[in-house]
Amino acid sequence: MARAMILLWALTLILLVPAISVVAQTIGVNWGTITFRQLDPNIVVKMLHDNGFKKVKLFEPDSGILDALAGTDIEVMLGIPNYFLQSLSSDYKSAQAWVKQNVTTYNPGKKDGVNIKIVTVGNEAFLTSYNGTYINITYPAMKNIYKALNEAGYGNKQIKVSTPVNGDVYTTTSYRPSDGVFRPDIKDVMIQICEFLQENESPFIVNIYPFFNLYQTPGFPEEYAFFDNNGNFSLEDHGAYYTNVFDANVDNLVASMRKAKFDNLKIVVGEVGWPSDGNVYATPKNAQRFYNGLFKKLAEKKGTPLMPNLDPEVYLFCLLDENFKSTDPGLFERHWGMFTFDGQPKYPMDLSGKGQNKMLVGAKNVPYLAKQWCVHNKEASNQQDLPEKVGYACNNTDCTSIAEGASCGGISADMNASVAFNMYYQMQDQNKKACDFQGLAKITTNDPSTGNCHFPIMIKKYVPSSHSHHGHHSGAGYSSSYLSLPFLFQIVVGICLVLFA
Ligand SMILES: *[C@@H]1O[C@H](CO)[C@@H](O)[C@H](O)[C@H]1NC(C)=O
Ligand SMILES: *[C@@H]1O[C@H](CO)[C@@H](O)[C@H](O)[C@H]1NC(C)=O
Ligand SMILES: *[C@@H]1O[C@H](CO)[C@@H](O)[C@H](O)[C@H]1NC(C)=O
Ligand SMILES: *[C@@H]1O[C@H](CO)[C@@H](O)[C@H](O)[C@H]1NC(C)=O
Ligand SMILES: *[C@@H]1O[C@H](CO)[C@@H](O)[C@H](O)[C@H]1NC(C)=O
Ligand SMILES: *[C@@H]1O[C@H](CO)[C@@H](O)[C@H](O)[C@H]1NC(C)=O
Repeated sequence: MARAMILLWALTLILLVPAISVVAQTIGVNWGTITFRQLDPNIVVKMLHDNGFKKVKLFEPDSGILDALAGTDIEVMLGIPNYFLQSLSSDYKSAQAWVKQNVTTYNPGKKDGVNIKIVTVGNEAFLTSYNGTYINITYPAMKNIYKALNEAGYGNKQIKVSTPVNGDVYTTTSYRPSDGVFRPDIKDVMIQICEFLQENESPFIVNIYPFFNLYQTPGFPEEYAFFDNNGNFSLEDHGAYYTNVFDANVDNLVASMRKAKFDNLKIVVGEVGWPSDGNVYATPKNAQRFYNGLFKKLAEKKGTPLMPNLDPEVYLFCLLDENFKSTDPGLFERHWGMFTFDGQPKYPMDLSGKGQNKMLVGAKNVPYLAKQWCVHNKEASNQQDLPEKVGYACNNTDCTSIAEGASCGGISADMNASVAFNMYYQMQDQNKKACDFQGLAKITTNDPSTGNCHFPIMIKKYVPSSHSHHGHHSGAGYSSSYLSLPFLFQIVVGICLVLFA
């Protein structure tokens, strides 16, 4: 009897132990580092393993991160920032030097090396907001890097070369995805690049952001940004029905490539994701809904109307929040992570696409500062100075969470002040003097978090190993991800036509 009970127990336990979610082979993550305090890359790599991620995309070689990835089986897509394009295109020696320092050093292809699979030259270099700065130099830079990789012994497709583009490299002559064409001002360059990719069996990498469609386009139908569209919106295109803008965007690209006679290029989605804070549309609920739909779609290997068999590799944007990113595109820019800056999961998800949502495995052994916070002192007599002090704090820290519609927004002036003071205090390494504000602030050991409004504690400074060259990145060329306005307007016009026809 007892034995039977134990057996039963054991069986129940086995059934209850959460299996590491099986990440579809096609899912990778973008790992950016524009953050006030970087987590120790070794902790992050452990977290990647714990969640089953096998592919990462880096915006530039970071020696600390690459060292942490060495000896693992994680595949790396390694980026070169746009500010390098000028020298790489005009000077072959600089391409050789780049490959030597940033590839050869890490022994790709060796057991103890970094599993670098592809080098991406530039990032969204053809964005219209760059005014054509990189149009003439991206392709020559790609060729030089390709040649330098060959010469260094990584030819024969061991390490491929590509360049991630934004959806604004193509447009459509109507509202229909099937009328897609490459943007006229870069058509010739796109054809050259496609030829290069085809010859070298490299993928076409495109970043796709339904969030931006919704955020930037007045009247954009919210349901169309998600995959589980409730079925009340669709875009008709020669008998095919699009129920999400992601598919429409992919097919716009497919049509553009076909028109230029490229039928077989492999498509990789370099960035796709949804932010969780800083805007009314950027909520954990929407992020979860978007990812759920995406993972389900990937698991079902449901292609698009033009490419029913498309099973693209996708890189989620992004792994960790980056709280030093520019907020020019919007306050949500600092909240794209599936994890907070300190590696904690934000909402339940199921990477296998089976809809069995649970929290991902967070970073372990994170070195936090003391468990204390800085909050508004309501007893102080000089409350009239509060707005100015909050303004000062916000000018010197991250206040994106108190914006309208954000996680700590719209609660009270008191909450606003506490969030601002705490962020400032944490970013000053909990220096006592940083929690004063002429008596308007005080330190507490009671967590002031409430509802969705989370009060973070800063992590200790990570000191990279001696041969690393850390520092804050300039941010130049980091993803900004817009979809071209003309295309958006066409889509909206198309939508109106469909809705009101
Ligand atoms: C290697 O990449 C890093 C990071 O982008 C850069 O700072 C460095 O200049 C590169 N090395 C060479 C020789 O180009
Ligand atoms: C592009 O041109 C606009 C208008 O002339 C200017 O404001 C902007 O700074 C330029 N951007 C770049 C990256 O050169
Ligand atoms: C790129 O090349 C074209 C054709 O040679 C030229 O007209 C254009 O001015 C160049 N653009 C830049 C930014 O150098
Ligand atoms: C579409 O469905 C959503 C959710 O059920 C609903 O709120 C919205 O009003 C519907 N839109 C239209 C145009 O019927
Ligand atoms: C915060 O920055 C803004 C813009 O630079 C400035 O106008 C304002 O005076 C600053 N506020 C404080 C309290 O320093
Ligand atoms: C809190 O701060 C936000 C952002 O600065 C502001 O829009 C809002 O009005 C503030 N709320 C109160 C009650 O002061």
